[in-house]
Amino acid sequence: MTLIDGKKVSDDIKKEIAQEVEAMVAGGKRRPHLVAILVGHDGGSETYVANKVRACEVCGFKSTLIRFEDDVTEDTLLDTINKLNNDADVDGFIVQLPLPRHINEQRVIEAIDYRKDVDGFHPVNVGRQSIGLPCFHSATPAGIVELLSRYDVPVKGADCVVLGRSNIVGKPVAALLMQKAGGDATVTVCHSSTRDLASHTRRADIIIAALGKPGFVTADMVKDGAAIIDVGTTRVPDASRKSGFRLCGDVDFENVAPKCSYITPVPGGVGPMTIVSLMKNTLLAAKGTVYP
Ligand code: GUN
Repeated sequence: MTLIDGKKVSDDIKKEIAQEVEAMVAGGKRRPHLVAILVGHDGGSETYVANKVRACEVCGFKSTLIRFEDDVTEDTLLDTINKLNNDADVDGFIVQLPLPRHINEQRVIEAIDYRKDVDGFHPVNVGRQSIGLPCFHSATPAGIVELLSRYDVPVKGADCVVLGRSNIVGKPVAALLMQKAGGDATVTVCHSSTRDLASHTRRADIIIAALGKPGFVTADMVKDGAAIIDVGTTRVPDASRKSGFRLCGDVDFENVAPKCSYITPVPGGVGPMTIVSLMKNTLLAAKGTVYP
């Protein structure tokens, strides 16, 4: 069994990005600039955004964090997005999700200029990705494909079962993996209405678990030699930790790992790759290579 070290891969890629940025700066270009908008004080979102800001520092990017309280109006948020769309100093920006219930998330996503949508959430980028056109790939799916590729996990023709059909992981990762250039796999997407879900996972060469249900994938659901990518990051209360919680994946790691060819840990698997994909998209935005 090979443990897929997303932390190490992401550190390697950040070093590659930093080298490219220093060469750009030496050539007279300005540093790539990523802006993150954070609404409220959700613990998970705070951590993700802090990690994104830190990754910008490592990559040599300029970063700006714009914070709003939970009660920010949708109009204020849309106004800020409009300003960022028109700010030539900003290469890309993200609005950290989830947003408070009084804000229409889809309206916010669609207000972002797709040419600055480095999360790859805008329907233009989602649509272009689904038909294999140049675009900003959504960060977690791109990170998963990169991990599979860097570890030489056989994907071409493989039976790949995706658990979960969210807009930010399940659907886009399925779209990427089924494409010739994204993996060339045979993809099945399972969700809450799937009948006999285990019959699908048991014949899978690759399982991508993105349900947000801690320990959902158990050893009896996994074929010997399967590769497992665990996207789950649920905070589970744990009094023995200083933080009061631990991060739990969707896979019963202890019992599933011995059966696998490859498996990602939580934390330290997919999470760091999501952030590095965002850095890659921001660099592409700054270079104007996706949308010149
Ligand atoms: N919330 C959970 N994952 C993400 C992500 O990749 N981007 C944004 N903007 N919000 C998220």
